[in-house]
Amino acid sequence: MTTKITNFTFDKKHSKLAADIIKKYPAEGKRSAILPLLDLAQRKYHIQICTTTPCWLRGSDEIVKACEQTLKIKCGEVSSDKKFSLVEIECLGACVNAPVVQINDDYFEDLTNESIVEIINKMKDRKKLLLPKRKAMIGQDDPACHAARGRTKRTDIMFGSAGFSYVYLIYGMYYCLNFVTEIEGFPAAVLIRGTHVISPENQYLNGPVI
Ligand code: FES
Repeated sequence: MTTKITNFTFDKKHSKLAADIIKKYPAEGKRSAILPLLDLAQRKYHIQICTTTPCWLRGSDEIVKACEQTLKIKCGEVSSDKKFSLVEIECLGACVNAPVVQINDDYFEDLTNESIVEIINKMKDRKKLLLPKRKAMIGQDDPACHAARGRTKRTDIMFGSAGFSYVYLIYGMYYCLNFVTEIEGFPAAVLIRGTHVISPENQYLNGPVI
């Protein structure tokens, strides 16, 4: 069955957001704002919380609890305003940064109770969300550091001078770009986990959190 909507208006807050979107388009191309406006009108958030063992060990139960309390629903339910749905799922393939949640097309990693509540509240208020874009790996004492098990042929570059970059393949799918950041002999790097698309040429970037 198709429902025909004959009169639709944004509320005050979303009217302002719609006006901001329209402003971005040149006078002769205002009609091109239709897609982001449709997105604004329809936006819903499907929150998928990974509760498989690595995420569970890193506190996914608490993330579930924080989501349920913030949204006042249980997993498997939809919020009363129909904007949020919540489910538990199996491994999202980003265990190294557990606990992990996928919301629509985006991954949110290394979450804490506070950060997931902040993310949900920003979504509720439709505030701009800046995804975590990088992850630092600092020294051999950092268990997430690629060189945590010492200097090998594979990790040699991390023990070199700052400024070098290296790429590794993860999950057989994603190429992850890292920059070495510390003095020679001290393994440290920054993993670039996301980018902003600023021109059509780089819109094909791909990755677990891009
Ligand atoms: S176990 Fe959660 S991402 Fe793999």
